[in-house]
Amino acid sequence: MKILVTGSNGLLGQKVIYGLLGDPLCLLPDDIRKKIKSEVQIIAAGKGENRIHRKDGYIYESFDMTVKAEVEKLFLKHKPDVVINTAAMTNVDACETKREECWLANVTAMQYMVDVLEKIGSHLIHISTDFVFDGMKGSEYAETDTPNPLHYYALSKLEGEKIVMKSLPAGQAGKLKWAILRTIIVYGVVDGNTRSNLVLWVKNNLDKKQKINVINDQFRAPTLSEDLAQACIVAAMKRAEGIYHVSGEKTYNILELANIIADFWKLDKSYMTSVTSEQLNQPAKRPPYTGFVIDKAKRDLGYTPRSFMEGLKIVDDQIKRSV
Ligand SMILES: NC(=O)c1ccc[n+]([C@@H]2O[C@H](COP(=O)([O-])OP(=O)(O)OC[C@H]3O[C@@H](n4cnc5c(N)ncnc54)[C@H](OP(=O)(O)O)[C@@H]3O)[C@@H](O)[C@H]2O)c1
Repeated sequence: MKILVTGSNGLLGQKVIYGLLGDPLCLLPDDIRKKIKSEVQIIAAGKGENRIHRKDGYIYESFDMTVKAEVEKLFLKHKPDVVINTAAMTNVDACETKREECWLANVTAMQYMVDVLEKIGSHLIHISTDFVFDGMKGSEYAETDTPNPLHYYALSKLEGEKIVMKSLPAGQAGKLKWAILRTIIVYGVVDGNTRSNLVLWVKNNLDKKQKINVINDQFRAPTLSEDLAQACIVAAMKRAEGIYHVSGEKTYNILELANIIADFWKLDKSYMTSVTSEQLNQPAKRPPYTGFVIDKAKRDLGYTPRSFMEGLKIVDDQIKRSV
C-alpha cells in the first residue's frame, strides 16, 4: 500500500510523515501501527527541498501543485492508494491580498489533483478549515452545518472542498473516494522552526519582551498537530469517507489561550494588549466563534485529542529538544 503526503514540509505534513514513521506522539492504535510498518510505502511530496530532518524510511519528491504537469507526473509515477493532501496556501491575510495566487493553490491545483487521482482510483484525504463557517452560530459546528465563508482564503478552501466532493456525486459510484478533515488553529513545532502558530507566536514574542495585540472577541478550539496527524493517518488506513470535524475538544477565547500560554512558560503578560477584532482590523475578517462537534471523528477514527495543557507540554519538550 502506498500513502503519498502532499505539503510534507508544512506543519501538518511533517507530523503525518513522522506519524507514519512511528512517532509515539502520534497516538495510533497498535493494529494500524503494525500494518503501516509492514505494508505501507511512504511518499512525501513538498515544494522545493525536503525540510524534514529525518531522511530515511520514505521517498521524497519535490513538486509544485500549481503546475498541472508536475501534479500529473508525481501521481502517475507513484500511483498512490491514498493521498493525504495537506498542501495549501495557508496565510489567511496573504490570500486576501494575493487572490490569484490563493485561487491557483487552493482551487485550481485541487482540480489538477482530483483529475489525475480519479484516473488512478486513489483515495483522497483532504484537509480543510473551520473558516468555511461564518462563526455566527454561537456554538460548536457539526459536519452537517452550512458553510458561509467570510474571506477569500475561506472561499478558496470551500471551493477546494466542492471539487473534491463533486468527484463522487452522492449515491453514485465514482473512482475517487474521499474524506475531508476540517480543522482549527493547528499548533506544534516543525523541523527547522520554519512555521509559526498561535502558541509559538505568543511564546516567542513574550520571550523577547515584544508587545503583541491579542484578540479578545474570537473563539477557537486549538488542535495539536500530532492529534490531527493521528486522524489523517487513521482516515487513510480505514479509507474513511465523508466530512469529519477534527479539532481540540475545548473552545477558548483567543485572549484566554494567550494567557494560558504565557502562564505555562511564566512569561510577562504586561506585553500583551487586549484588542477587539475591529481594533486589530486584519485584512481578512475572521469568524467570531468556531469550535467543532468532534463526535464523528471520535467514533469513526478513534480520534483522541489531548487537552491544551497536554499539548503545551509536548510543544515545550519539542522546543527543548530542538535547541
Ligand atoms: N494551521 C492551521 O491553523 C490550519 C487551520 C485550519 C486548516 N488548516 C489546513 O490544514 C492544512 C495543513 O496546514 P498547515 O498548518 O500544515 O500549513 P502549512 O504549514 O502552511 O503547510 C502547507 C504546505 O503546503 C505547501 N505548499 C504551498 N504551496 C504549494 C505548492 N504550490 N506546491 C506544493 N506545496 C505547496 C507549503 O510549502 P512551503 O512549506 O514550501 O511553503 C507547506 O509546506 C491546510 O490545508 C490548511 O488549509 C490549517
